[in-house]
Amino acid sequence: MARIVILTGAGISAESGLGTFRDKDGLWTKFNLEDVATPKGFRRNPALVHDFYNARRTNCANAQPNAAHKALARLEAALPGQVLVVTQNVDDLHQRAGSENVIQMHGALMRATCHACRHTWPAPAEMHPSDPCPACGRPHTRPDVVWFGEIPYHMEMIAEAVQQAELFAAIGTSGQVWPAAGFAAAARNAGAHCVELNLEQSEISHEFDAHHHGPASHVVPEWVDHVLTDRG
Ligand code: OAD
Repeated sequence: MARIVILTGAGISAESGLGTFRDKDGLWTKFNLEDVATPKGFRRNPALVHDFYNARRTNCANAQPNAAHKALARLEAALPGQVLVVTQNVDDLHQRAGSENVIQMHGALMRATCHACRHTWPAPAEMHPSDPCPACGRPHTRPDVVWFGEIPYHMEMIAEAVQQAELFAAIGTSGQVWPAAGFAAAARNAGAHCVELNLEQSEISHEFDAHHHGPASHVVPEWVDHVLTDRG
């Protein structure tokens, strides 16, 4: 079981050019969350929802991992089997930076799923409402992302890892979306040392024992160096 559990959010990918949600100019200032990130919105206007995720998929394909993603991959390589990244991000920048032990709790932009038969496959660059599922043929395909009102993926595995963690870090997340917003308190109650790395104070800063405020591309590599020095 991993000893270091790292929760990441949109802030870690901000410097790769992928927008956050709740900052000034964030995605939820430009798009209505109910329209593009709920099952009801998808039923109402699937073309609009596909357009939203098609654009995000293109941005993601054109983005590169930054120094923060790379530092987490370096941490995992230096401490094999001890590091788990739990990300709320649907981009694939952790994996492209070299992290292997990654749980994408809100799903993956680069995957498609059929909500009739639950088959999943690599998403094409553009998805459309009429696309047939490659397994069952029905036109019920959607991006394999978790929308508001749906249950995030792998919650049991994450809860167990959070309970067992010695060190818990949250990077680039505002702490406003549950269940991820509750992980720091759960880890702390179970005895983990909790560290927040974020551009600024978040709404849940008080849950953490230590804080490193600044852009992820600076504070994450510094923190990784510190963890590796500490662990000899
Ligand atoms: P938010 O947009 O809510 O928060 C991003 C956080 O990153 C904020 O606290 C920023 O201060 C911080 N930040 C911005 N730039 C940064 C940088 N360069 N370095 C470090 N921190 C930076 O994004 P999330 O917390 O990830 O869910 O949002 C959680 C979930 O809400 C998302 O997964 C998504 C969204 O609605 C779904 O769509 C289901």
